Amino acid sequence: MTKFTVNNQPVEYRMDPATPLLFALRDASNLTGTKYGCGTGHCGACIVHVDGSPKKSCLVPIGSIEGSLVTTIEGLSHDRSHPIQAAFLAENVSQCGFCIPGMVMAAAALLKANPHPSEDDIRSGITNICRCGIYPRLVDAIQRAGRIQRGEETAPTPRPGIDPSDAARVVPALTPAP
Ligand code: FES
Repeated sequence: MTKFTVNNQPVEYRMDPATPLLFALRDASNLTGTKYGCGTGHCGACIVHVDGSPKKSCLVPIGSIEGSLVTTIEGLSHDRSHPIQAAFLAENVSQCGFCIPGMVMAAAALLKANPHPSEDDIRSGITNICRCGIYPRLVDAIQRAGRIQRGEETAPTPRPGIDPSDAARVVPALTPAP
């Protein structure tokens, strides 16, 4: 049994301690915002925060983070009000969207460590891979998030999200046409 805290909730995982954190989050905790891209530590789609630092969760065995604090994209904010989330939406960063949760978590950690990142800081600090090629918008969004975080710009109003109860609803069985 491995115990740690996920998004402020204490959790006990009855899984092999060698299980990657990515699979514990997705398969046992149903936190599917964290994505499985490569599984080898290259793409960054699986980035979460462990004790405040960005980690590729596909490379982290749960047994190695006993007692840690894990934050996933679902726990970064409850209303998409984090400056990175607000700026990503305002700058229309997302294209297919698959890599975005990992990008957001990496960008949030970068901005926390460096509140005024230059373009070079962002390009060297965010090594996530995006097959849609969102990189120019990514730089703009992180710099905009920095201005929001520093109080130099008002955060845009978050767009309405999906109600969690709606997202979890059971789809009724299809009935055959008469
Ligand atoms: Fe972890 Fe790609 S899935 S780095």
